Amino acid sequence: MQQDQYGYFDDANKEFVITTPYTPLPWINYLGNDGFYALISNTAGGYSFYRDPKFRRLTRYRYNNVPMDSGGRYFYFNLDGDIWSASGRPVDCELDHYECRHGMGYSSFSVEKNQIASKLTSFVPLDTTGEVHRLQVTNNSDSSKELDLFSFIEWCLWNAEDDGTNFQRNLSTGEVEIESNTIFHKTEYRERRNHYAFYSVNRDIDGFDTDRNAFIGNYNGFGNPQVVKNGQSTNSHAHGWSPIASHHIKLDLAPGETASMVFVLGYVEVPEEQKWQSQGVINKKPSWDFQSKFDTDEKFEAELAKLNQYWDNLLGKITVNTPNNSMNRAMNIWNQYQNMVTFNLSRSASFYESGIGRGMGFRDSNQDTIGFTHMVPNAVKERIIDLAATQQSDGSAYHQYQPLTKKGNAAIGGNFNDDPMWLVLSTANYIKETGDVAFLDTIVPFEDTPDVQSTQFDHLTASFYHVVNNLGPHGLPLIGRADWNDCLNLNCFSTEPNESYQTTQRGESDVAESLMIAGQFVLYGNEYANLCDLTGRTEDAAKARVHINQMIATIDQHGWDGNWFIRAYDSRGLPLGSHTCDEGKIFIESQGFCLMAGIGMQDGRAEKALNAVNQHLLAEHGIVVQQPAYSDYNKYYGEITSYPPGYKENAGIFCHNNPWIVVSEAMLGRGDQAFDYFSRFTPLFRPQDMAKHRTEPYVYSQMIAGKDAAIPGEAKNSWLTGAAAWSFYAGTQYILGIAPDYQGLSINPCIPKDWDEFSVKRQFRDATYHIQVNNPNKVSKGVMKIEIDGQGIEGNTIPYNDFNGEHQVVVTMG
Ligand code: GLC
Ligand code: GLC
Repeated sequence: MQQDQYGYFDDANKEFVITTPYTPLPWINYLGNDGFYALISNTAGGYSFYRDPKFRRLTRYRYNNVPMDSGGRYFYFNLDGDIWSASGRPVDCELDHYECRHGMGYSSFSVEKNQIASKLTSFVPLDTTGEVHRLQVTNNSDSSKELDLFSFIEWCLWNAEDDGTNFQRNLSTGEVEIESNTIFHKTEYRERRNHYAFYSVNRDIDGFDTDRNAFIGNYNGFGNPQVVKNGQSTNSHAHGWSPIASHHIKLDLAPGETASMVFVLGYVEVPEEQKWQSQGVINKKPSWDFQSKFDTDEKFEAELAKLNQYWDNLLGKITVNTPNNSMNRAMNIWNQYQNMVTFNLSRSASFYESGIGRGMGFRDSNQDTIGFTHMVPNAVKERIIDLAATQQSDGSAYHQYQPLTKKGNAAIGGNFNDDPMWLVLSTANYIKETGDVAFLDTIVPFEDTPDVQSTQFDHLTASFYHVVNNLGPHGLPLIGRADWNDCLNLNCFSTEPNESYQTTQRGESDVAESLMIAGQFVLYGNEYANLCDLTGRTEDAAKARVHINQMIATIDQHGWDGNWFIRAYDSRGLPLGSHTCDEGKIFIESQGFCLMAGIGMQDGRAEKALNAVNQHLLAEHGIVVQQPAYSDYNKYYGEITSYPPGYKENAGIFCHNNPWIVVSEAMLGRGDQAFDYFSRFTPLFRPQDMAKHRTEPYVYSQMIAGKDAAIPGEAKNSWLTGAAAWSFYAGTQYILGIAPDYQGLSINPCIPKDWDEFSVKRQFRDATYHIQVNNPNKVSKGVMKIEIDGQGIEGNTIPYNDFNGEHQVVVTMG
């Protein structure tokens, strides 16, 4: 194991081990799998919610707080006036030992001070609407110790936005009840809510507090609550203001003795007619039942074992063993794990997404599916149907939908013209993984024609023709409000600071065109045509290919700048991403999408474009969006020029699009180059950069500051990013080259030349393949021979119908 400044990977346990509470930013983990989610930092900061981080938030968290990451599930100790906390903070003091382990769906915290050792283990059990925390406290000294323990959480008054803004109301509404060892949060239960939350412990308590000021004191902070300092709770009962839950437990530990306690923070819904036990007293029965599932160490451990099993199972669907350990760690553990987090939360709740803003993005959520279809195919099918149901019959789509209502978000609207074609990607990807071609016949009405029995296939047709029906003066796709690059707003022209770039659209917008959508149309248009063929719709396929070939010709004519692909034409018909521009001469997105579509792969343009990417866009930590960065605001380009150079879409390294270049390089057969890029933007490959990078070293961030930035290499906005799914897709399907296809599993790796061999265990539909790839001639690409159970096959694809079940596959490159 390699020890670094802030922590290290423990692969055997699938954990990242953090060795100091004082990381450059809070390094978090996600707990929860089906409906109840918690964000937990390396000092137990963060919050939890049921389904919707805006409308059902259980605990309070203050974004952008000072000190950073204050507020969470805290356990305080007081031993003879010396105080510290079981998660390293918020009490700032010298500890004799601190360690946080973030694992798959759980986190643990080990702390020692004054010869008192504690271990806190936190997770959300499967099928459970709450967090459980076990605290074990051991006396490592040779004399008896009496100490006081205080738990602490602060309630959020359910609606997180209102909770942070509407103080004139909500300082009067807070209500709690206390019964035996349980504190109940029942704000607004008296009116329209039929849910409450509780915080309990499986042990008698010596006191409690439910009023924040009583517990913390008016001018103290989380680091030195008055009650903890005094060593005595006040039994406060909150009426309005800020309700909290804190238990006081007196521990008396003999030498070597351990006390073990399980705390449960639960969410409960009660049928309307059973809300009350008696006048004004809530029905607590569901809470007692809930607590009884976790009230012993044995039950706690059994639940944790179930959770571990669940994750082993999910992650075990693909296991790779390559000569590069960072690659193994990424593919086997952390990249897949992050993909599941994006499946659960899309872009809603992280330490940078406040949970009160964005819903499920049409573009983001369709793309994300390529990272987890192999793990949760049925859930992906449902997700695709939810997305398709927000599409209009003309193919256009709401840019976002709300997870609670599954309705398109009218405030944001549509007209992001790349949106429709992402539905083809997600659908084709799902069918390749599962073989479920019949999915295309599923009835999914369009949003505007609820009574028409449209099929999923009709949605793909509508997506395809939405592009065909929205072409601009050069015959290229109109960009609308924005294509993949949300900040390239070519029809906005905003000079008014209070306006949204992305939803302001002036004029007819029938001029500005996107080469990224053009490439996307060819790539996923071909996929659409393949699906037509696959289902016997040969005429539809032929008709589609006429449009695709026309688009390719148009790209050749109007999209090639001499050494790379142009990015767009603006509302005045002027090119962006051309050598004729002063700034923004070359962009990443159109290179990625035209090349992934195969344009220029045969005639030398692909080499040229990729060499230009290397020459102009490459930075130490990845490939930047464009160069040169825009130095001034330009109303014709919109938000992209609003950022200082080197940040976000203005020449930052936007990790989401880096895998597109990896895929393009792999298609061209340049395996060393593909792998070099991969290892730059993937933080798991760069543990030495933890301090500079700042965000969690085990997951992708949305952006790493580019070469024009004041501090290049600093990452921002970790966890919820399309970089996760795309990297996994590029890594498994293009570098390792193991790709599901309609007829079977295709094998076509593109690896660094110095790899002698690698192996992959891949579950695919009902088959499990143990694939050994040998590279005796040290090539990057080229498959000489594939043998399955000792028998040679033709071509690169293992035909599924002939070879389902368990198989040994040997591949020889050369
Ligand atoms: C901002 C960000 C962009 C993000 C968008 C989401 O424009 O710069 O990265 O995609 O908001 O609405
Ligand atoms: C953000 C958005 C995504 C967009 C990207 C680039 O990540 O979520 O939809 O494509 O920014 O602007």
